[in-house]
Amino acid sequence: MSAQTERTAIYPGSFDPITKGHEDIVRRALGFVDRVRVAVAHRRTQKKDGLFPIAKRIELIRQSFADEPRVSVGEFEGLLVDFAQRSGARLIIRGLRAVSDFEYEFQMALMNRQLWPEVETVFLAPDARYSFLSASLVREIASLRGDVSDFVSPHVLDALNERFGAAAT
Ligand code: PNS
Repeated sequence: MSAQTERTAIYPGSFDPITKGHEDIVRRALGFVDRVRVAVAHRRTQKKDGLFPIAKRIELIRQSFADEPRVSVGEFEGLLVDFAQRSGARLIIRGLRAVSDFEYEFQMALMNRQLWPEVETVFLAPDARYSFLSASLVREIASLRGDVSDFVSPHVLDALNERFGAAAT
């Protein structure tokens, strides 16, 4: 397939750190697009404090998809739609875990469309095992030395253990 006809989707987020829920969404997206570009948003863009620096988040995401050449990883500052345009992607992927996610996600999808009418947002439901999972809960549990081994891949667990000291796993 030529670069012109390939369908690329952007999967944006903080990924601080990447969880099994995120990994699940990317692999589901690869069921109907040719490439997924995981886009790590800079902190300034998000007005949130982070745990891992952007470079580390990117390294962890790359390790998660070391087996998958159709996944690339980038970082962005500023508007998501600008980054999507620069990446040649008209599709934004977002995971929808529960009804509580819906309002914010719907608002973002419509605002992104207002900013760039050609962009479409596709919501994917994760595996039910990850429907209550969030990176912020993972950070909190790991910081309190709880076991997050069900929720993150082993290389992410190592990074969390390095950051907080060995957890009960
Ligand atoms: O992992 P998150 O925190 O749910 O991701 C939120 C993210 C990064 C997708 C969102 O904050 C975003 O798109 N930020 C970029 C700035 C932007 O484009 N804002 C307008 C969105 S309507």
